[in-house]
Amino acid sequence: MVNAYERFVRPLLFSINPETAHHFTIAVLRRASQVDLALRALKFFEPLPKPKAVFGLTFRNPIGINIGKSRTTPLEGATDDYLYSFRLLREFADYIVLNVSSPNTPGLRELQEPAALSELLRAIADKNQITRKPILVKVAPDLSPSELDEIIATCEENQVAGIIATNTTLDHSSIPPALDQEGGLSGAPLREKSTALVRTITAQSAIPVIASGGIFDAESAREKIEAGAQLLQVYTGYIYRGPALLREITKIL
Ligand SMILES: Cc1cc2nc3c(=O)[nH]c(=O)nc-3n(C[C@H](O)[C@H](O)[C@H](O)COP(=O)(O)O)c2cc1C
Repeated sequence: MVNAYERFVRPLLFSINPETAHHFTIAVLRRASQVDLALRALKFFEPLPKPKAVFGLTFRNPIGINIGKSRTTPLEGATDDYLYSFRLLREFADYIVLNVSSPNTPGLRELQEPAALSELLRAIADKNQITRKPILVKVAPDLSPSELDEIIATCEENQVAGIIATNTTLDHSSIPPALDQEGGLSGAPLREKSTALVRTITAQSAIPVIASGGIFDAESAREKIEAGAQLLQVYTGYIYRGPALLREITKIL
């Protein structure tokens, strides 16, 4: 069933330039957060409380911060770049995610290689001794089985608290060439691939997995949970379905 967001808000957002839509949405939400009536209206969309305890945190509203190196930092300087962001942001986060899988930052995915990932995880662990935030790693969906095995082993060796599977894909084969655009592909075309990765990781390792990729409704959310995910992360589905999506998903959890 089409909800009010899909009927009225989405057509408006999709009719304007994406950057403008981004800034517009943030400005509206910032304003709305200061208006009591708007906050009460947003309560309507509040998902059902389904708290879940994973890696020492109870997930009702914990804040995770994803960090990735800057586009302009060469790969050799990646560790220092992550450490800089880590030091700056750790106090605001309940957990920190090392994003080593965005296809939009040149070379970033090379940090998934065991030697580079180990170096990064050791450097972060060294600076994580006092505050002790859970550290997660976000992986790409385009890994070969052997690459994935190596990442899982590296995460286990370095006591990573969780893996987020997955980031966007470089596989654009499902998009007709005339409609294709550059950059990582998210949403429905990613669903199966990311579910397969969740299944492989959870079959092999006890590291908790947060599933991300193509979650659009209760059915696609259930698929991730059945594949072994402990938590879900929604991005594109939220843009298409709006805040009602969260309530729809929590009903089946
Ligand atoms: C425009 C865009 C920007 C994104 N930026 C980030 C990012 O900065 N860090 C990150 O870890 N993932 C980023 N992602 C990946 C999403 O968080 C998500 O993992 C991915 O899109 C798959 O989920 P989805 O199908 O629900 O969108 C981005 C995705 C999109 C489409």
